[in-house]
Amino acid sequence: MKIDTFELERRQSLWENTVEYNLTESGIHPFTISELLDDSQVKQLLDLRLGYGQTNGSIELRESISKLYNNASLENVFTTNGSAEANFVSIWSNLKPTDELVLMLPNYMQIWGLARSFGVNVKPFHLKEDLNWQPNMDEVRNLMTPKTKMIAVCNPNNPTGSIMTKSNMEELIEIANESSAWILSDEVYRGAELDGKETTSFYGKYDKVIAVGGLSKAYSLPGLRMGWIVAPEDIAEKSWLYHDYTSISPGVLSQQISTWALEPSTRQKILSRNRKMLNENLSLFQNWLDKRKHLFDFIPQKAGAMSFVRYHFDMNSTVLTERLRKEKSLLIVAGDCFGMDNYLRLGIGSEKEYLLEGLQRLEEGLEEFVNA
Ligand SMILES: Cc1ncc(COP(=O)(O)O)c(C=O)c1O
Repeated sequence: MKIDTFELERRQSLWENTVEYNLTESGIHPFTISELLDDSQVKQLLDLRLGYGQTNGSIELRESISKLYNNASLENVFTTNGSAEANFVSIWSNLKPTDELVLMLPNYMQIWGLARSFGVNVKPFHLKEDLNWQPNMDEVRNLMTPKTKMIAVCNPNNPTGSIMTKSNMEELIEIANESSAWILSDEVYRGAELDGKETTSFYGKYDKVIAVGGLSKAYSLPGLRMGWIVAPEDIAEKSWLYHDYTSISPGVLSQQISTWALEPSTRQKILSRNRKMLNENLSLFQNWLDKRKHLFDFIPQKAGAMSFVRYHFDMNSTVLTERLRKEKSLLIVAGDCFGMDNYLRLGIGSEKEYLLEGLQRLEEGLEEFVNA
């Protein structure tokens, strides 16, 4: 089996802990345990027995997750180690080498790389900047063949932060339905909308949907490694069967803390704190960009802590980000990681001072490297 390097994750894995300023994160400044839990919950954690727990996720946790979706009950929910594992299990258990997968690009490139390594024929369609990072639905329609088993989208999208319009969602469902194809919808940024209007899940809108979610992004809890699949019961069951071969179970500590994080009042507290941070940081970043309009084009994200900008100077994005890393100790994601040179993805979800200092390093780099 040949597998492509997952460029984005590889670069983060290699360098994120060695640079002084890491602006590659697509999530929002993580919570500490003491910011999240009260004393009695901490005490309960200290007394928690470290067994395996329920391997598909505790009943309480799956019930809380199911409430985030229309027409879902706990039997539709299957928990995983991060949404990365939910994507992995969904691709592994549902696609075989002769199948075709129609995939939204740009995207978190996990599904792209994974499906290709399994011998699936991956056929991309593209979000278009001139359509406000929406897809052209004719492009999707033209890719469909009798071999198309699945359409995979990332909504809200990484890296553009765009959200599919209602009419594009409806058309995608129509296209999938005509070919009886599955929709795999990675919705891990759902809940991180800047205007607070939660993105509609594909789950509950069509019977062949696998929705992927998790606590790493909108909830600022990536260290819990809590992800999930919401799908028809037989698919949730099948995921469990495959999951017995991967990590067996999410950790019991994570399951317990995740259950508390999803209690309605705590969930609201988390999402409001994050929305406030995101709006403040985005306006700060927008001010920074406004002074450099000759260098950058930017369609602000609708959700998530990543800002995807196009630049107008002549330098390859990998060369630029490597120089920034080595000479300015600043890590940002090159557009090349998404097959889109001349773009940069900046994580704006950190604390304000840190973000400002990171932008200052970028400024210095631009002055020195491109004389801008
Ligand atoms: C769209 C998308 N899906 C999945 C993941 C994996 O996240 P996690 O496994 O932490 O939930 C990421 C991480 O950046 C992502 O951007």
